[in-house]
Amino acid sequence: MRSSGLNVAAAAALAFAGLSAAANVTEWKTRSIYQVMIDRFARTDGSTTAPCNDLSVFCNGTWTGLINKLDYIQDMGFTAVQISPIVTNIEEETSVGMAYHGYWTKDMYGINQHFGTQSDFQNLVAELHKRKMYVMVDVVVNNMAQKFDNKLPPKVDFSQFDPFNNEKFFHPYCNVTMWENATDYQDCWLYPYGVALADLDTDSSAVVQEMGKWVKELVSNYSIDGLRIDAAKHVDDAFLPQFVNASGVFAWGEVLTGVTTDMCRYQLKDLLPGMPNYLEYYPLNVAFNGGSMEGVLKMKQEAATGCTDVLALGSFIENHDMPRFASQNPDMALARNAMTYVLLNDGIPTIYQGQEQHFKGNGTPFNREALWLSGYNTSAPLYQLAKTLNKVRNNAIALSKDYVGKTSESLLADTNHLCLTKGPNGSQVVFCINNWSSTGASYSLNVGGFQASDAVVEVLTCTTMTADGTGTIATFQGAGEPKVYVPAAALNGTGLCPQTTVAKPIEGTNKSIASAGAASSMLVAAMAGFAALFFAL
Ligand SMILES: *[C@@H]1O[C@H](CO)[C@@H](O)[C@H](O)[C@H]1NC(C)=O
Ligand SMILES: *[C@@H]1O[C@H](CO)[C@@H](O)[C@H](O)[C@H]1NC(C)=O
Ligand SMILES: *[C@@H]1O[C@H](CO)[C@@H](O)[C@H](O)[C@H]1NC(C)=O
Ligand SMILES: *[C@@H]1O[C@H](CO)[C@@H](O)[C@H](O)[C@H]1NC(C)=O
Ligand SMILES: *[C@@H]1O[C@H](CO)[C@@H](O)[C@H](O)[C@H]1NC(C)=O
Ligand SMILES: *[C@@H]1O[C@H](CO)[C@@H](O)[C@H](O)[C@H]1NC(C)=O
Ligand SMILES: *[C@@H]1O[C@H](CO)[C@@H](O)[C@H](O)[C@H]1NC(C)=O
Ligand SMILES: *[C@@H]1O[C@H](CO)[C@@H](O)[C@H](O)[C@H]1NC(C)=O
Ligand SMILES: *[C@@H]1O[C@H](CO)[C@@H](O)[C@H](O)[C@H]1NC(C)=O
Ligand SMILES: *[C@@H]1O[C@H](CO)[C@@H](O)[C@H](O)[C@H]1NC(C)=O
Repeated sequence: MRSSGLNVAAAAALAFAGLSAAANVTEWKTRSIYQVMIDRFARTDGSTTAPCNDLSVFCNGTWTGLINKLDYIQDMGFTAVQISPIVTNIEEETSVGMAYHGYWTKDMYGINQHFGTQSDFQNLVAELHKRKMYVMVDVVVNNMAQKFDNKLPPKVDFSQFDPFNNEKFFHPYCNVTMWENATDYQDCWLYPYGVALADLDTDSSAVVQEMGKWVKELVSNYSIDGLRIDAAKHVDDAFLPQFVNASGVFAWGEVLTGVTTDMCRYQLKDLLPGMPNYLEYYPLNVAFNGGSMEGVLKMKQEAATGCTDVLALGSFIENHDMPRFASQNPDMALARNAMTYVLLNDGIPTIYQGQEQHFKGNGTPFNREALWLSGYNTSAPLYQLAKTLNKVRNNAIALSKDYVGKTSESLLADTNHLCLTKGPNGSQVVFCINNWSSTGASYSLNVGGFQASDAVVEVLTCTTMTADGTGTIATFQGAGEPKVYVPAAALNGTGLCPQTTVAKPIEGTNKSIASAGAASSMLVAAMAGFAALFFAL
């Protein structure tokens, strides 16, 4: 009955698909996003065998290929899809490859023929809307692109660009060299090698107006629900709110920084409503690669005070720009913890294609493997995990909008664990991630977050337990697995855990834990007051 995670208002708005749904930030907060790189997701004929050995040129994925594989995404529980830029790019092969990714704009009014025809793209949006899913389109506003011979300064034929067909729309050439100097990284040109990324003069009113006109048309022509603004940090501050306002939809901007003030100023100064959450991305990676979970909580708290709306940030651990999580550590339990955190964290979660198949590609372009090499295996463990977690999240949202309207609270944080509770009493989701990896020992952990005598289900193992008089549950940890606890009553009608067993210790694994970790856990738990750690015999 309550199995649909769709926001009723959003669903009603989408019933008018065809008109622009003009989705706002509140509606986007209820969504969970699957990020698609069109060239690497699916081919029109669905073929999975032809390899894609050279990752710097086209692998020939298309919009129609994506349409044919939407079940793969929707069955995982995602309610939005983010896709590569859709406009016409340069055709040339350069010393840094070809424009398979869609970021090398030549003609903003043309459609990218490699990905399909205009009607293919319209069909994609219509099909997504039919499924009550949102579409987020990536847009490039910082620059236009042209192949060049690596002789500096780049000689650019501006007349080839549409619309910015004159040098007067661009900043004069200089290479970005001072990454702490906003004038430098906003007005100079990015990475002048192979391709000249001719830097648009986004402070000029001519560029602001043309971009505003363009994005307004783009959103309305294709009924786009949201935007990702590529390289937002590299355009003029004042350009951003005007561009977002002109679009009429939710937009978040790429601000690649791990520094709270650098990120949060975009919300504080009303430049952007949201940004992918690079602040937590870094400590999260550190926690799973030799560091501590406490760093994640510390950043979470910093962002909560520094930003005006952490609920509009985008939770993620992988994207097309960063090395895959598994390229650093292929342990499956760690990948499961990372995915659990991303999908249940505050903000709008994004899973990047291939993360659910535990792809291991390192830096660009190796993190852009063709998804078809996985055979779209829906039995893959992380595919199944994403499906369960999206069900949990979508259900919690259906039960109460407060789930996405309020931030989570910390129940326990120590070097190896982070336990959070999110959502109002009755439909809260309590989850614990850890960084022990799959060789992790078995032990018990007391976690609060419930009401006295609540019947609770751990949804990844479908085991039950009962909260004590203080709302604390005794949980059994082991093999480094993440845990997700919800009140049993909240699962009614979701199809999650139709059969349950009573939770009990995991047999046969090492029951000892490094004492330093134990001691600090005890200390943190004792200070927190409502959670205590103890070890099973
Ligand atoms: C977003 O749209 C919904 C429904 O159309 C509306 O109820 C809500 O007030 C809007 N929120 C914001 C922040 O504009
Ligand atoms: C993609 O299509 C082009 C043009 O049809 C072809 O030359 C190329 O071999 C294809 N690439 C792959 C990886 O199949
Ligand atoms: C541009 O600057 C970057 C440092 O920001 C440097 O690594 C690169 O070599 C420079 N490129 C050119 C072509 O000057
Ligand atoms: C910042 O960068 C601009 C543009 O490159 C340059 O003119 C200015 O001198 C730099 N400021 C500082 C403090 O380095
Ligand atoms: C939107 O559609 C109109 C009418 O077909 C067309 O003139 C315009 O160029 C399109 N704009 C964009 C950004 O695609
Ligand atoms: C936002 O756009 C509306 C119309 O689309 C316009 O009237 C308003 O002035 C714009 N506001 C800002 C801050 O640009
Ligand atoms: C987990 O955290 C501990 C304590 O900081 C650290 O020693 C360990 O290396 C981390 N584990 C992994 C897999 O990174
Ligand atoms: C799909 O994944 C499951 C689980 O990892 C595995 O057992 C199965 O062999 C895979 N199927 C194919 C066709 O690779
Ligand atoms: C849940 O109820 C407890 C008291 O039983 C209260 O302290 C806590 O703030 C409530 N949590 C939420 C999110 O409403
Ligand atoms: C579950 O929902 C069904 C109807 O949808 C209802 O009859 C039943 O009482 C509910 N059970 C619980 C435990 O809430």
